Amino acid sequence: MLWRLVVAILGVCLIPSCLSDVQLSSNVILEPYDLLFDTAVEAYYKGDWMTVILNMERALRNKAAIRRVKAHCRITCANQSAFGEPLSSMVVPVPGAGSVEDLGFFQKIMKRADCVNTCESEKIGPPTIHKVTEDVDLEFKKRTPYNYLQVAYFKINKLDKAVAAANTFFLANPDHMEMKQNLDYYRMMAGVQQEDFKDLEARPHMAEFLAGKRYYSSDSFGLAIDHFEAAVEEYFSADQECRALCEGAYVYDGYNYMEYSADLFQSMTDHYMQILNCKQRCSVELASTAGKDKPFEDFLPSHFNYLQICEKYEQAIEWAKTYLLFHPEEEVMNQNLAYYSAMLGEDKAAAISARLVVKQHIQQSLLEKELLYFAYEVFGITFVDPDSWTPADVMPLKLREKQKTERETAARITEEIGNLMKEIETLVEEKNKESTDIAKIVREGGPLLFDDIKITMTSKQLNGSQRVLLDGFISEGECRELTRLSNAAALKGDGYQGRPSPHSPYESFQGVTVLKAIKLGQEETVPLKSARLFFDMSEKVRGVMESYFRLDSPLYFSYSHLVCRSAIDEKQDDRDDLSHLVHADNCLLVSELNECIKEPPAYTNRDYSAILYLNDDFEGGDFIFTELDSKTVTAEVRPQCGRVVGFGAGNENPHGVRAVTKGQRCAVALWFTLDPKHEEKVTYLSVNSSGIVYIMSFFLSFYVVMGYFVI
Ligand SMILES: *[C@@H]1O[C@H](CO)[C@@H](O)[C@H](O)[C@H]1NC(C)=O
Ligand SMILES: *[C@@H]1O[C@H](CO)[C@@H](O)[C@H](O)[C@H]1NC(C)=O
Repeated sequence: MLWRLVVAILGVCLIPSCLSDVQLSSNVILEPYDLLFDTAVEAYYKGDWMTVILNMERALRNKAAIRRVKAHCRITCANQSAFGEPLSSMVVPVPGAGSVEDLGFFQKIMKRADCVNTCESEKIGPPTIHKVTEDVDLEFKKRTPYNYLQVAYFKINKLDKAVAAANTFFLANPDHMEMKQNLDYYRMMAGVQQEDFKDLEARPHMAEFLAGKRYYSSDSFGLAIDHFEAAVEEYFSADQECRALCEGAYVYDGYNYMEYSADLFQSMTDHYMQILNCKQRCSVELASTAGKDKPFEDFLPSHFNYLQICEKYEQAIEWAKTYLLFHPEEEVMNQNLAYYSAMLGEDKAAAISARLVVKQHIQQSLLEKELLYFAYEVFGITFVDPDSWTPADVMPLKLREKQKTERETAARITEEIGNLMKEIETLVEEKNKESTDIAKIVREGGPLLFDDIKITMTSKQLNGSQRVLLDGFISEGECRELTRLSNAAALKGDGYQGRPSPHSPYESFQGVTVLKAIKLGQEETVPLKSARLFFDMSEKVRGVMESYFRLDSPLYFSYSHLVCRSAIDEKQDDRDDLSHLVHADNCLLVSELNECIKEPPAYTNRDYSAILYLNDDFEGGDFIFTELDSKTVTAEVRPQCGRVVGFGAGNENPHGVRAVTKGQRCAVALWFTLDPKHEEKVTYLSVNSSGIVYIMSFFLSFYVVMGYFVI
C-alpha cells in the first residue's frame, strides 16, 4: 500500500504522456489505473471536467497497455521453455528419466518465469502495483469510465467524443434508461453524425464478425466474405492473447488458502488445471459481446459455415472441410462439399485440405480437454466443456455415465419442485381470496368512540370498499385555528422538497407537519396551543379509524401533514388538470394497465389514510375516488369543516383532488401504518448536563405523551 502511494506520487513525473504502444520505453512505471480512475471520479464531483477526461482516458489507456504487455511478454517468452536441444549445462542429455532431467525441466520453467518478469517490469514496472480490487475490475467491465467521460466531454462541448463514450457505455448496459435518453437526444442534435456512435471497446474479431453478419443478411455476400475472413484471422490472435492472459496467479476458492497444503506436484497440477480451464473458456469469452446476455453459439465453426458460400469452389471446399473438422457428420455441409467437389473435379477437390491453423487449434483444444478430464476423474477438479463440437469419446466413459444419471436426477427434481410450487401457488391464491372476502365483510362499522361523530356514508354508499365518510370531528372554531396555524407556519412547499407548486402549476401549496408545528410552537412562531390541537385532532382521527375499521392491531402514524392549496387567480382560464393527480397511497398506480404495484418508491407500509377537512369556502377541490384506470370516478366528496374521509391505502382506493379554482382549501392529510417499525419518528439534537450533544429519537406519540411537549 505504502509502495503504491509512493509510486502514485512519483508516477506523475515518470510517465511519458502517451503509452498507446507495446513498445514502451524501458524502466517506466505505469501509473496504476485504479488510482487514475479514483482521481477522475473525485474531479467529476468537483465539476473539473478536464481533469476527469485526462485521468479517465489515461486509466483506460493504462489498463489496455497492461493487458497488451502481459500478453506480449507471455507469448514472446513461451520459447524459453522449449525442449528442443539438450541443455548445454547438463551432462546427461534430455529426454530421459530421473532427477537430473527434473533439474533440466525446472531450469526451463525458471528461465521462462525470469523472461516474463523482466519483460513486464521493463515495460510497466513491478506487476504487483497494477493489482486492482474486484470492485474496480467490475467498474471497468461495466464500462463505467465511459459514463463519466460522456458527461465530461459533453460539458466541454466535445460532442463527437461524448456520443462515442455514451454509445460505448450503452452497448454494455442496454437497460440503462438515462443513457438511452441521452443517445436519443444526441441523435437529434445538429452536428452529430451517424459515425460518431462508435464502440470504443470493440474487439476486432467481433467487429469483423458482426460486420460480416450485417452484410450477409443484406445479401452483400462479397463484402460479407471479406469480413468473415478478417474475423477468422483476428479470432486466432485474440485467442492467443486470451490464452496468454489466463496464465495468471492461482485463484483460491473462498478461504481455501488458509488450509491449502498441496505438495509440489499437486499444487502445480491444481494451478495448471485452473489455467487450462481458463484457456478453454476463451472460446466463450471470444463469442461474447457487450450487452448480449449469451455468447454466440458454436461461434468459431459458424464462421466457416458463412464462409463456404463464397463464389470460388476451391475456397468453398476449403471452408466446408474446415467446418467439418468440428462437425464431421453434419449432413447439409457434407452435401455442399460433395456438390462443390463435383463442380470443381474430384481430384482437384481431394487435394484441398482444411485450414491448418484451425486443425492445430482443434488438436490443441482436444489435448487440453483430455488433460482436464483426467484431472476431473482423478482429482475431482471440475471441468465443464464449453464447446458443443467436442466428440463424445473425449469425455471418459465413467464420467459420461455419471453425468447422465446426474442430469436425469436433476431433471426429476426440477419437475417435482415445479409441481410443488404450482400447488403452493394455488393454495395461496385460494387463501388470499378467502381473506380478502372476509376483510371486505368484517372490517367496517366498528364503534366511533365520540358521540358527536356521525357516519355520513359507508363503503357501499361511496361505491367501493374500505371507505367511510364521517362528520363532526372538530368545531368551526378549531377549523379556523388550524387554518391560521397553517398560514402562520406558511413555509411554502414544506414536505415536498421546498417546491411551492408541486402538484399543479395553477395552485400554490403550503404544508406543515405535526413535528414542525411543535417546533415552531416551541420557538413561539405559532401558538403552541394550536400545534397541540393539530396533534390531538390527528390522534382523534387515528383512534376512530382504528376502531371503525375493526383493526386487530394498533394503527400508528406514518405521516401527517396540514396542507392548504390556493388557486393562483390569474392562472385559472382553460384549466383542465387536477389539484392532486389520481394515485393510490401504498402502491404505484399504472393506469394504462389497470394495475397498482406495491413496491418502492410507493410508501408500501401505509395501510390506511384519512383526510380531515377544515373549510368549504372555495371553488372546485372536491375529493374523488376512481377505478384503477384513474379516469372513471366512482364517488365524489365535498369537503367541509369537521368532515373526515377515511379509506384503505391500497389498490382498492385510487383517489385525487379536483382543481381548486378559487380560494384556499385546507385539510389535514393523515397516513397510518399497522407496522410499528414505520411509525413517524421524532429525531432532534439534545444537550445533556455535561454539555454533550446527542441525538434523540422517539416515536411521535411517545414524544408527546412523555411530556417532552409541554404546554
Ligand atoms: C524467443 O522469442 C523472443 C521474442 O520473439 C526472441 O527475441 C528470442 O530470440 C527467442 N529465443 C529463442 C531461444 O528462440
Ligand atoms: C355512487 O354511484 C352512484 C351511481 O353511479 C352515484 O349516483 C353516486 O353519486 C355515487 N356516490 C358518490 C358518493 O359519489
